[in-house]
Amino acid sequence: MKPSIIIHGGAGSGRYGEGDKRFSGLTGAVEAGLAAMKKGSGLDGAIAAVSSMEESGLFNCGRGACLTAAGEPELDAAVMTGEGLAGAGVGNVTSTYHPVELARWVMENTRHVLIVGERTRDYARLAGMKTESVRPSQAASKRFLALVKEERHSRAVELVRKIEGGGTVGAVAVGSDGVPAAAVSTGGMWMKLPGRVGDSAVLGAGIFADKRLGAACATGTGEEIIRCALTLRACGFMRSDDAQRAAAKAIAFITRERGKGTAGIITVDRKGRVGASFNAEAMGRAWWDGEKGRIVGKV
Ligand code: GLY
Repeated sequence: MKPSIIIHGGAGSGRYGEGDKRFSGLTGAVEAGLAAMKKGSGLDGAIAAVSSMEESGLFNCGRGACLTAAGEPELDAAVMTGEGLAGAGVGNVTSTYHPVELARWVMENTRHVLIVGERTRDYARLAGMKTESVRPSQAASKRFLALVKEERHSRAVELVRKIEGGGTVGAVAVGSDGVPAAAVSTGGMWMKLPGRVGDSAVLGAGIFADKRLGAACATGTGEEIIRCALTLRACGFMRSDDAQRAAAKAIAFITRERGKGTAGIITVDRKGRVGASFNAEAMGRAWWDGEKGRIVGKV
């Protein structure tokens, strides 16, 4: 089977042009994913793509993560492969800029599907990962200070959404083995309460993969995505629909149940067809167009 991959850089109101660094961040992530899939699986591809976005500092994940109400980054991530419903998530990670790698380690080395909090540092060490204290980026600190100057938190959060949009990053891919897989990573939401874990750590919410159906990865307001079990729902639609139709149906569902501006989703079905849909103003995304033999980006 030919490799197939689609990635996103978050849904929100922040539309940016092709000249923006984030655009090349998206296409670069697809390149990283394709390179990993030359010798590896769809899971390798999805993780490599997400890892490159974590490293870039351009998105709300890894080095570019947003901050809690206490002014600290707390990172969530997950991985899942369609083979045997294997997957795992990590939450409130503060010891590595690459929680997606840690999620893979949890999936491959423990019998659990979710590990959160301070203990994740121990597992990062056990995994042989470089551990360091995750610090706010300069841009995030500046924005945080602007936010705390606002009288009301809720107004401030709205303000940031308006200015910034975007969020979580994710990837879904099918490699030569034909197994759909997904990876996701995020800083969560601005001004979240410390300790809050969002959809991106939770299988069936921020991420899902099943080789009989496909794989899906969500972005948006974590609480709404969890309530709707959004990626599980999208994969269910792929029993009879192709990836694009399944993505559209999942977003129609969350829009109907929880309103506009709540989510975006990317999908890949078991035939390697990709899909994307969102109910926000924009969702930066990029994918490999196998027929044209090139990477396509849309912002
Ligand atoms: N979708 C990212 C979050 O709400 O945590």
